[in-house]
Amino acid sequence: MRYVPTGCIRSGMRLGKSIYNASGDMLLREGTEVLPVYVDRLKSLGVNGVYIDDGLSADIEIQNVISDEVRNKAVQGVKKILTHSVNDNPGNKKAAIDQAKTIVEEIIADILRNSSIMVNMVDLKVFDEYTYYHSVNVAVLSAVVGAAIGMNKNDLFALGLASLLHDLGKVFLDKSTINKPGKFSEEELLDVQRHSELGYSYLRTMFDVPVKSSLGVLHHHERFDGSGYPKGLKGAEISLFGRIIAVADVFDALVSDRPYRKALLPSDAMEHIVGNAGAGFDPDIARIFFMKVAPYPLGTAVQLSNGCVGLITENYEGFGLRPAVKIIYERGKMVTPYVINLLTDVSCLNITIIGISPLSEEKIGEATG
Ligand SMILES: [Fe+2]
Repeated sequence: MRYVPTGCIRSGMRLGKSIYNASGDMLLREGTEVLPVYVDRLKSLGVNGVYIDDGLSADIEIQNVISDEVRNKAVQGVKKILTHSVNDNPGNKKAAIDQAKTIVEEIIADILRNSSIMVNMVDLKVFDEYTYYHSVNVAVLSAVVGAAIGMNKNDLFALGLASLLHDLGKVFLDKSTINKPGKFSEEELLDVQRHSELGYSYLRTMFDVPVKSSLGVLHHHERFDGSGYPKGLKGAEISLFGRIIAVADVFDALVSDRPYRKALLPSDAMEHIVGNAGAGFDPDIARIFFMKVAPYPLGTAVQLSNGCVGLITENYEGFGLRPAVKIIYERGKMVTPYVINLLTDVSCLNITIIGISPLSEEKIGEATG
């Protein structure tokens, strides 16, 4: 299986994973042959890429830290939770928080079971439902960091809850402002920035939400160097949860299409996180994040400095820049596929990954006809 950006899907390709929206409706079933009309539909829904099954990638199994089932259930649950947090009766609000707890428990159970797997964060979101997919991704990324630093189960649970609900305060704001394409006016910006405090205040009214979780929500836009909001806290003044969610939130936002810009590649988003270690982000958290999250996710096509194009077949924790790559295209022509391991093959020491690019996809397309 491999990840193909929507713009590079050619008709006849076969879907490797079903695509669901945040209500749990299946949009396209696994195994479906992609027709041009489906590609148009995916584009209009703002789906940035899909998993494709083909002969080239049949041996690549996409292992994820949480199962597709848990992810889909979580996305649907978050949609419900955020809908019930406004204008609803106390019973429903409490039920929403209880549902959030169940989701977090399931996410954490999967993460602890798969603690040796690196995170593959590619953009599989439906554009209009960004908030729901994003909430789940931030919960997964944050809990992976929490597990990696050896957090106990209670803290991991509280962190998962905070990260799943980090943007809950946005439900109390004007939707048209939040989704505005282009820049906010100063007034709009101040209004949107209220969401961390609004989320905090709301969660404080819920008796059974840990204080640590509410504080994580309050601090998720604080920045390590004091440049964040609402209080401009610095370093350890920001709660650990706040410092972790900050990194997870920015990374997943960067790899997603937003109203004001296109998605960045995971490798570029990682560069942003690592580049801001010690400035916007806690350097220890950024370092752990880099160890656990793949800059080149499994199944993505990459171009190498020696002119080859290949697919990522394996990632190694802590060595995200040196994955194993299945070479399929060499100096202008298709070759019998072979795997090189950038981490262990001594003959490959001078080879680097130039990047993930649609160009790589086109080349594969040409090569496979
Ligand atoms: Fe936020």
